Amino acid sequence: MEWCGGKGHLGRYLHACYGSRVDTLEIDSTLVREGEELARKLDYPQSLHECDVLAEPSAVWLKPETHLLGLHACGGLHVTMLEKGVDAGTCRISLSPCCYHLYGPEQYQPMSGSGRVTGLHLTREELRNAVRQTETAPARQRRQRAQMQSWRLGFDALQQQITGTGQYMPVPSLPTRLLKGSFEAFCRHCAELKGLSLAENLDFFRFEREGLALFRQRSREDLVRMLFRRPLEVWLALDRVLFLEENGYQCRLLQFCPPALTPRNLLLDAHR
Ligand SMILES: C[S@@+](CC[C@H](N)C(=O)[O-])C[C@H]1O[C@@H](n2cnc3c(N)ncnc32)[C@H](O)[C@@H]1O
Repeated sequence: MEWCGGKGHLGRYLHACYGSRVDTLEIDSTLVREGEELARKLDYPQSLHECDVLAEPSAVWLKPETHLLGLHACGGLHVTMLEKGVDAGTCRISLSPCCYHLYGPEQYQPMSGSGRVTGLHLTREELRNAVRQTETAPARQRRQRAQMQSWRLGFDALQQQITGTGQYMPVPSLPTRLLKGSFEAFCRHCAELKGLSLAENLDFFRFEREGLALFRQRSREDLVRMLFRRPLEVWLALDRVLFLEENGYQCRLLQFCPPALTPRNLLLDAHR
């Protein structure tokens, strides 16, 4: 049983390797249809089911003989997977977790008894730190992201001076084509989106430099944050391991590929 399987690529791979019959659960009807088409073309015994795993009763899908699998099921989706797998007593559970901050409460609730007694309190925003990194993004994309952040910070410094609020002003997502123009044109675009009028004689060069300085400062702070990224992710994975062990499973925690392929490379593999 593949949990939140998208088009069910993992399920088809498992069938190719082990001859397994696979059921795939997925909420997105387009992915389900495309996955069914791929399985049909290959004549594989794979069924994709359109469903919301957070709503479906586990008993419908999970049996003690089920091997439950989740590749990059986000936060609450994989928490539910583990809870429902444990309730149904599935014989094996294999999970590669990701995006711990999604589909969950504002305040992280450790899954294991051992996790709860540590007294570690994590907000959703802090959980997000476990997956903040762009190792697989191409160099060009990383350069664009740096310029976008630097210019956004420059615009923010400018708007704070004009409005006198001293408050950060969120600007919606912006097309990368704006980066090909000038910083002034970028600011005028943002100002229009936010209903601000900008005078002709502003010192845009000064705010561009201020944005760059702020970006560099944030990047240095990120370096410190990044030191804690993997330990936090491993802590969260171990919380899941302990939850499974407290419920009668024997569990291994492995890395299944180099981080350059995907930084979300932890695998929990549990047997009853
Ligand atoms: C990160 S993707 C992983 C997909 C697949 N396992 C893979 O690695 O290619 C997470 C998937 O979960 C699906 N999803 C999100 N919420 C869901 C829900 N409530 N019930 C079922 N699937 C859901 C998304 O549509 C998406 O396909």
